[in-house]
Parts: sequence; structure tokens; C-alpha cells
Amino acid sequence: MLFKQKKKKEIDMHNLPRHIGVIMDGNGRWAKKRGLPRSAGHSAGAEALKKIVTEANDLGVKYITVYAFSTENWKRPKEEVDYLMNLLLNYLKNAEQTLSGENVVIRAIGSRAEFSEEIREQIVKTEEFTKNNTGIVMNIALNYGGREEIATAARRIAEMTLDGKIKPEDIDDKLIGENLYTASQPDVDLLIRTSGEQRLSNFMLWQVSYAEMWFTDKLWPDFKPSDLCDAIIDFQNRGRRFGGV
Ligand code: IPE
Ligand code: IPE
Ligand code: MG
Repeated sequence: MLFKQKKKKEIDMHNLPRHIGVIMDGNGRWAKKRGLPRSAGHSAGAEALKKIVTEANDLGVKYITVYAFSTENWKRPKEEVDYLMNLLLNYLKNAEQTLSGENVVIRAIGSRAEFSEEIREQIVKTEEFTKNNTGIVMNIALNYGGREEIATAARRIAEMTLDGKIKPEDIDDKLIGENLYTASQPDVDLLIRTSGEQRLSNFMLWQVSYAEMWFTDKLWPDFKPSDLCDAIIDFQNRGRRFGGV
């Protein structure tokens, strides 16, 4: 506890990342190390997530996007996918009570059509329930893929062009950004990936263009609020130039 407070004091509250992206990886390996089924790792991961969102909110971070299920994760065994869907449903139900109490705004990003009706309805319910909160905005990336997101934006823009609402020369990076799931939100400043893998795995391809990347070998269920503080402190010590000098 004391240690945590000490770390927090090292953070410059005037230079917080506005938007943090998190690739929560390593649940399966965490479980394997303990001789447990992969599902146990996913449950432990969901618990870790609550603490991280609460910490980010307490610090005053405005946006956090967490990668919970990718467009590629359907490739996993049916049993694991079913477990993840059930965990997701319960997480959303529970978040209405716990995270809303913390003033968190919960939004889902990704393609919803592939989910069951029960999950789709719960997503709408949780978003409605939390939309007037004033704390951190938490985007949960569900059936999310960066390429799918850009393709969806391209389709929408093509329709606007056909309808005569815009001309091809009106299409610029601002318009594309406004048609992504994260429209009106700032780009990702800090991208965190756990479990030692150093790749994007189709996460926020557009929004991370100038993000600072931070990797740790820790597996997601072991990731603690103090690790989030470490990542932010490291972020604050980097020289961001955005192509300038
Ligand atoms: C991340 O953990 C959670 C999801 C992708 C749903 P993994 O399930 O990918 O865990 P590892 O990478 O196999 O250890
Ligand atoms: C990325 O992790 C997706 C999520 C964390 C939800 P994966 O475990 O699916 O990614 P790869 O397969 O290692 O690239
Ligand atoms: Mg993984």
C-alpha cells in the first residue's frame, strides 16, 4: 500500500496519457503455470482488469481501451470461446454495479453482429446505464479488429459519397478518424502489452500511430495498479517528437 502511494507520487499529474490502450495478454499461460484450465486465467484476468480501470480513473486518465476479444479469437476451441462469452456477459452485468459506482463510462467497440442477442442487449444496457457518468471512458474491445474497424469506416464513407453528402476530395484522415469506433476520442498515447509478446495483433492500428509502446513480461492476471504506474512514469520520461525536432 505504502509502496503504491510512493509510486503514485512520482507521476506528473499534468502530463498523463490521455488515452491508454491495453492488450491484456497471457491469461492462458498464467493458468498453465498453475496447472489450471485456461478458463481460470480468464477469470483472474477479469479481476485484474477491474483494479486497473479503477486505478486509471483515480489517477485522472480520461480514456482507456482494453482488448478483450479480437476478431481472430473465434479461432479458439468452442469451449474456450463459450467461456469467454459467458465471462463477458457477467462482466458487463457486474460492471453496472461496481464500475458504474466508480463513475466509469463503459462502451463496447468492435462488430456486434456476431454476438448472441443476450450479449448484444447487455452491451446496450450497460452503455445506457453508465453513459451519464463523468469518470474515465472505458472502451472494451469486443470482436474488435483494427482492419475491420477501418474497413467499416471506409464503407460508411463510400455510402456518404454515393449519397452525395461528401465528395471524394473531402476524404482525409480526420474524416476517417471520425468514422472509427473511437470517433471523438483522442489517439492512444500509451500502449501497454503484457506477457512478453511485442506485436499489435490487429489492435487499434489507426489510433496507435504515435503511441508510446510499453511491454512487460508479466502475465495479465499478475498486472497490478503499481505496474500501470510504472508504465505511466516511463511514458512521462520519453521524448515525444511527432516527427518534429
Ligand atoms: C488474453 O490471454 C485473453 C484473450 C485473448 C481473450 P490469452 O488467452 O491470449 O493467453 P495466452 O496468450 O494464451 O497466455
Ligand atoms: C490479443 O491477444 C487479443 C487480446 C488480448 C484480446 P492474442 O493472444 O489473441 O494475440 P496473439 O495470437 O498472441 O497475437
Ligand atoms: Mg495470447
